[in-house]
Amino acid sequence: MHPVRIAPSILSADFSKLGEEVRAIDEAGADWIHVDVMDGHFVPNISFGPAVMKSVRGVTTKPFDVHLMIAPVDVYLDAFAEAGADCITVHYEAGPHIHRSLQHIKSLGKRAGVVICPGTPAKMLDYLLDMVDLVLVMSVNPGFGGQSFIPSQLKKISAIRTMIEKSGRDIDLEVDGGVDAAWAKRCIEAGADALVAGTSVFRGGPSAYAANIAALRGD
Ligand code: DX5
Ligand code: ZN
Repeated sequence: MHPVRIAPSILSADFSKLGEEVRAIDEAGADWIHVDVMDGHFVPNISFGPAVMKSVRGVTTKPFDVHLMIAPVDVYLDAFAEAGADCITVHYEAGPHIHRSLQHIKSLGKRAGVVICPGTPAKMLDYLLDMVDLVLVMSVNPGFGGQSFIPSQLKKISAIRTMIEKSGRDIDLEVDGGVDAAWAKRCIEAGADALVAGTSVFRGGPSAYAANIAALRGD
C-alpha cells in the first residue's frame, strides 16, 4: 500500500481558465490530475474529450489519471494515450470486452485501470487483477460531481484491498465520488491509497486548494 495520493478532478475546475486551475492544483500538492471524460451515453452528462485534455497537458508534469466514462471506449484509447494520459481507466460496465480494452491500454505503454460502479460486485475483478495497475471504486453513480458518498462502498474497498494483497501485485486502489475529509479517512482505513476529489478540493477557490488537499490526506 502506498502513502495516499490525492487526485483532484478537473471536472470541478473553472473551465474558463482550465490551464490556470491545473497549475494551481499542481502547486497546491495534487499527486495526480484526475480527468473525467463523459459522453452523454454511458453516463448522462458530457464533459470534454482528448483535445481539451491535451491543451492542458503541458501545464504540469504530474501524471494524468484519465477516467473514461464512454461507450464504446476502445476506439478512443489511442487518442487519449496520444493526448498525454499516464493511466487510462475504463469501466467494467461500458462494454462486453473489458479484458480486450485493458490489453489495448497496456499495448499503448500506459498504466491500465479498471473502474466499477456502485452496483457492481468486487468479484468481477477476479480475472482482471493480473493485468491492471489500478482499481477505481466509484462511490457515487458516475456522471456528476457534487454527489453524496455511498457508504456501502467502504465494504467493497476493504474486500478489494484483501484481493490486491493476495495477488501480490502493486495495484493502486482509488476511490471516486463524494470524498471529503471525513470520508477520505474512512476510505484510507478501508484500504484505499488514492482518492479522487472534485468538490472538496475546488471549494473556496485557488487560495483554499492547498488546505483542502492537506485535509484529504489527514494532515
Ligand atoms: C463522477 C466523477 C468524479 C466526480 C468527483 O462521475 O467520476 O470524479 O466528478 O467529484 P466529487 O468529488 O464532487 O464527487
Ligand atoms: Zn472520475
